[in-house]
Amino acid sequence: MTADSTALRQHALEALTTARTRTSALTDCVDDNDLTAQHSPLMSPLVWDLAHISNQEEQWLLRAVAGREAIRPEIDSVYDAFEHPRASRPSLPLLAPAEARSYASEVRGRVLDVLEGTPLHGRPLVDAGFAFGMIAQHEQQHDETMLITHQLRSGPAALTAPAPPPSDTTGLKAEILVPAGPFTMGTSTEPWALDNEQPAHSRLVPAFHIDSTPVTNGAFLHFIEDGGYQDERWWTEKGWDLVRGHELAAPLFWRREGGQWLRRRFGVVEPVPLDEPVIHVSWYEADAYARWAGRRLPTEAEWEKAARHDPDTGTSHRYPWGDSDPTPEHANLGQRHLGPAPAGSYPAGASPLGVRQLIGDVWEWTSSDFLPYPGFVAFPYREYSEVFFGPDHKVLRGGAFAVGEVACRATFRNWDLPVRRQIFAGFRTARDA
Ligand code: AVJ
Ligand code: FE
Repeated sequence: MTADSTALRQHALEALTTARTRTSALTDCVDDNDLTAQHSPLMSPLVWDLAHISNQEEQWLLRAVAGREAIRPEIDSVYDAFEHPRASRPSLPLLAPAEARSYASEVRGRVLDVLEGTPLHGRPLVDAGFAFGMIAQHEQQHDETMLITHQLRSGPAALTAPAPPPSDTTGLKAEILVPAGPFTMGTSTEPWALDNEQPAHSRLVPAFHIDSTPVTNGAFLHFIEDGGYQDERWWTEKGWDLVRGHELAAPLFWRREGGQWLRRRFGVVEPVPLDEPVIHVSWYEADAYARWAGRRLPTEAEWEKAARHDPDTGTSHRYPWGDSDPTPEHANLGQRHLGPAPAGSYPAGASPLGVRQLIGDVWEWTSSDFLPYPGFVAFPYREYSEVFFGPDHKVLRGGAFAVGEVACRATFRNWDLPVRRQIFAGFRTARDA
């Protein structure tokens, strides 16, 4: 038990520290005006995310796990995401940047003591360090949210990162057949899995074909050039309303200039790279493209089966490449690069059947609504998943370049409204076999 606890504590410490390094990078690269400004009504000021991260950490790790008194009880409501919609957050009595930073380091200092002294077993909240893992995932999720704010912010680049590795698509087939049969969806054994990924259950999935990589900008351009945005046939009724209402003609952040398509990413304008996965498309655009291509979006179950089922052994793995944690050879994660790698990259991260880039690069829209698995139990709070279940939200899978390693696995479920375009979402297509 002692050796195990030491390893668990080390793992939790690393997850919390990695998240904090990223949080600091995202908030230290801009000045105080920039931190308190609202760059888009869709997003919070960065300084709200900063203090919200620490307020959640305080509530779960200091109060719920360790039974400590609130450090600043008066701020809980300011940082309650349900009390205040994003657009209203700039008018709240927010902690100023220096106060938010000192609150964050005070909370983290105490959390490290708690991590040192708390037995990591005996209560569901702490078993296998769950609450620490949950909070590291929460911080990473807000690091992605803050990166979206950076993308929506105008002005010169504040963040830089090296380009991702080139791709090698030699011998790669365009689509891959996933044979019919049951597979294990969800998990009951992953120690830090969130409530919506549980429990593990068997799903019968008929045979289907799935794209071996996400759909590229080049492929999406064919849809644009074929008049896809002007042709009602490809769109659902709500999708067509969106296209007409907002005069959509290309992915968000694209513009046409002098006969060339350009896109802006983190303050840099450049020609649209044809071999990169398309990103910043709504669910409706993904769905329309698939219909135009004579295909469809994969269901969530198809996506997960393609990502983790090994037909040779009949088992489901944690990741496409197996059960080991992601490394930079497997997937583009953690904001290591500030964009998706070209389609066909990361052969070491391929699934047993050879499907690539399921983890990292871009979130992938699925055709499925966000619904609970049979036997779902909300844990540790209803507002994480349960209140979002239903037909309003579509499931996204796989995680983007912006997602932390700890907040990503083949069972991980993300969701958003189908109109959303500022998120780091692309897609791949499928068809019945
Ligand atoms: C799972 C990404 C949809 O950002 O709304 C953050 C994650 N939940 N704080 C979100 C989350 C509470 C959530 N998503
Ligand atoms: Fe949150």
